Amino acid sequence: MTSCLMAAALPSFSQENPPAPQIINVEARQTTSLDGVWKSIVDPYENGYYDYRLKPLADELSYFADRDFNEDRTVLYEYNFNTDKTLQVPGDWNTQRQELYYYEGTVWYRRNFDYDLQPGKRLFVYFGAANYETVAGLNGHKIGKHTGGYTPFNFEITDMVKAENNSLVVKVDNRRKPEGVPTVNCDWWNYGGITRSVLLVETPETFVRDYFIQLKKGDMRTIAGWVQLDGPELSQDVTVSIPELKISETVTTDGNGYASFEFKAKPEYWCPENPKLYDVTVAAETDSVNDRVGFRSIETSGTDILLNGKKIFCRGVSIHEEMPYGKSGRAFSEDQDRILLGWAREMGCNFVRLAHYPHNEAMVRLAEEMGLLVWSEIPVYWTIHWENPDTYANAESQLTDMITRDKNRANVVIWSVANETPHGDARLKFLSSLISKAREMDPTRLVSAAMEKSRKGKDLLTVDDDLADLVDLVSFNQYVGWYDGNSEKCDRVSWEFPVKKPVFISEFGAGAVYGRHGDRTERFTEEYMEDMYGRTVRMLERMPGLAGTTPWVLKDFRSPRRQMPEVQDDFNRKGLVSDQGGKKSGFYVMQRWYRKLASEAAE
Ligand code: GCU
Repeated sequence: MTSCLMAAALPSFSQENPPAPQIINVEARQTTSLDGVWKSIVDPYENGYYDYRLKPLADELSYFADRDFNEDRTVLYEYNFNTDKTLQVPGDWNTQRQELYYYEGTVWYRRNFDYDLQPGKRLFVYFGAANYETVAGLNGHKIGKHTGGYTPFNFEITDMVKAENNSLVVKVDNRRKPEGVPTVNCDWWNYGGITRSVLLVETPETFVRDYFIQLKKGDMRTIAGWVQLDGPELSQDVTVSIPELKISETVTTDGNGYASFEFKAKPEYWCPENPKLYDVTVAAETDSVNDRVGFRSIETSGTDILLNGKKIFCRGVSIHEEMPYGKSGRAFSEDQDRILLGWAREMGCNFVRLAHYPHNEAMVRLAEEMGLLVWSEIPVYWTIHWENPDTYANAESQLTDMITRDKNRANVVIWSVANETPHGDARLKFLSSLISKAREMDPTRLVSAAMEKSRKGKDLLTVDDDLADLVDLVSFNQYVGWYDGNSEKCDRVSWEFPVKKPVFISEFGAGAVYGRHGDRTERFTEEYMEDMYGRTVRMLERMPGLAGTTPWVLKDFRSPRRQMPEVQDDFNRKGLVSDQGGKKSGFYVMQRWYRKLASEAAE
């Protein structure tokens, strides 16, 4: 029997149905939150997606159909969202349900909602992030797929949404894959699930989807950028206004909905001491978006990093996106972000390295308001499959999504394309393509990566990596005193850097159990941490061209690689703060040093 109602034109779903182009600054738009309690089905054999011959099921036979056996028990179903368990969204599943602590596989989520979409309006479902591979479906039909665990994605549902009882079904699979980004081996917990907020975003038929507004590279008196419309009426007048600067500039978008602009301006420059943000409106004829934007320049000169033309030392700390206190787990809320960034401020930081993947947008925006510079990174981490074109496409997609989302944040000054990746021609080619892509998308910021140290002589250390020629910083991780010798080794080594660029120590550190005391030679005691940190600070003060450092790591974090009972218990203990908020000896060593550096800089 054919339905008498012509089904709305459904997007034909291919295996790789990509999301719609990312809508930026969603919080400033007409949104409806879908956060809260969702129904869930744990499906380790992907029974809801494949038949017993591993062929993808037709939608009506898959869990996207969202059938309820209790409505018609004459039909064979073997799943039921309505009678299954729940999960909180946002949030990883590992720390919500004990049985999912180590789970790596598929979990299905289901959320019902009503939506009265008026004619002339469009509707998207926006995910802040879901780790790792997501397939979304609405009202029984797949709508799209996204790969990558830490960047936003949105699907248009304008032609599919109903006024009442929509069924949004989302399949999330967090299995690690050799060809993935990251690959199967990394030093953090593989938190799976819809780990950030889900929003319905309503827009006019033609709307302001994307824009870039920053100081023009090399010209502190010019604001430059572009705007991109999305919809049928692509050629419109668009006015960029910054009332506090008495600026109102109008451009006309071309047939693709794009227009660039630049105009003279004399803004107060954003900096950690004065994180000045301006109200900016991007107004087309059919849509208008408000944002808060800071203006600053970032560049290097020899071994100096210059913020607004002035030499700066980046007093930083590395941070994993893990909630403070409680059960740890993937952080997702502004309150959690505020605690983490508050600890960094208390330590005397003006900089945070958001490792090893893009953190939630609120973290970046909050850091911007607090005057914290940001190093933002994609999880091209350790032994990525450098020769796999799909792996490269995945990495580039995550880089593009990261830059798209945060390119208007003044505090983001470094895009990092990798962490501790093994030397080799394929790796160099892979990373140089990512670096070119970052520079093409955003010429206003620095591009770097966390490289590794190498030995030049018995106690002479350096960074010998071809990548150093391609990036703007000689940034690298070093663990003299922890993985490389004991604390006293910090006193004997010296450093030499052939590439004359700012030196940036993106990681150093030592493990300690909060409150564990003993001799300073005993690993995992606070005395060892204090001694190692003190010797490291003295070593850093001897380091030629040092322009910043982000010790590893702000807070103890979960990792499946850290198993030792009574010491690690699945936590990497290099946190300067314990997972329950206890400040360790190393925190105070850094605080003293950073306060000294800050007062010297103020002289
Ligand atoms: C590496 C790596 C981190 C890891 C750290 C450690 O440098 O970049 O992700 O957690 O070392 O071993 O603690």
